[in-house]
Amino acid sequence: MKIAVLAGDGIGPEITAQAQRVLTALKSDGLKLELESGLLGGCAVDVTGEPFPEATRKLVTKADAVLLGAVGGPKYDSLPREKRPEQGLLAIRKELNLFANLRPAILYPELASVSTLKPEVVSGLDILIVRELTGDIYFGQPRGIEQRNGQRVGFNTMIYSEMEIRRIAHVAFQAARKRKGRLCSVDKMNVLECTQLWRDVVIETAKDYPEISLSHMLVDNAAMQLVRDPKQFDVIVTGNMFGDILSDEASMLTGSIGMLPSASLDEQNKGLYEPIHGSAPDIAGKDVANPLATILSVAMMLRYSFAQEDAALRIENAVRKVLAQGFRTSDIYEPGMKKVGTIEMGDAVLANL
Ligand code: IPM
Ligand code: MG
Repeated sequence: MKIAVLAGDGIGPEITAQAQRVLTALKSDGLKLELESGLLGGCAVDVTGEPFPEATRKLVTKADAVLLGAVGGPKYDSLPREKRPEQGLLAIRKELNLFANLRPAILYPELASVSTLKPEVVSGLDILIVRELTGDIYFGQPRGIEQRNGQRVGFNTMIYSEMEIRRIAHVAFQAARKRKGRLCSVDKMNVLECTQLWRDVVIETAKDYPEISLSHMLVDNAAMQLVRDPKQFDVIVTGNMFGDILSDEASMLTGSIGMLPSASLDEQNKGLYEPIHGSAPDIAGKDVANPLATILSVAMMLRYSFAQEDAALRIENAVRKVLAQGFRTSDIYEPGMKKVGTIEMGDAVLANL
């Protein structure tokens, strides 16, 4: 199992270092893992001038899975768009055809009181957001900023083909089948033609899944329902931009965005695994970032790309134990708990592994 490790920027190197310790521990227990590091994002721009250099493209193409920390930082925000770290992330998703982004939002019982919502609203929360990741307004052409009639106009194109909608719908229906059997598709069909097609194709695809209960929700209502009564959801499927927004919202239901892993998969389950949070430049290098989302991303990698369910559960159970033992990084800290830094959190996970 060849794993490319792209630590990236900001807190990326700190959190991936802890995830790599977990992988190394599993390796010494007999899992046949090979790790190789590469550059992506701002650190790649610093060294090569490109956010997704050719060497990294080769590395991730031959790897079976990719572990990614996070990319981006204020230092790069004034670069031309095509040189920005975020373009590296979008390019690697597109290059590897990682169209299916799975973002589970699970509330660990120990963290119920860390959520900004009332414990009774979030306790037991377990939802899965299936976000389409290689289409939509993120990639649509034409796009740009140009002069028209003496002033600048900015424009992007929201576009989905029925093939793109159908294949993500299949992923979502199949995920719902393994869970509680409920799927909510989120669109804005009252205003946008593109998402009218989305709804039509999801309804057509539903014919293959008569056992799944399918509902539809407009994205503004979905944003509201997520904070009003998040437990009404099981699986949510939506496009790239709505999924970006709703998954950040869902993450906060669980107390901290620092807890949530993600998987981005192609048709063969080759995947890129990353925490859903960003590079958090404000806390980078201070040993305070929460490495659990990245460690849980390793569990997703073992499950989805390598079919190593036992190893995945071992990691997830270790994380549960660490929380039960009271270890907390500052994002999930409450008085009475044991405040730890990034490395100590890694130590605690390894001790429980
Ligand atoms: C995410 C991030 C990215 C996105 C950015 C960094 C390009 O917000 O993975 O959710 O918008 O997809
Ligand atoms: Mg995002």
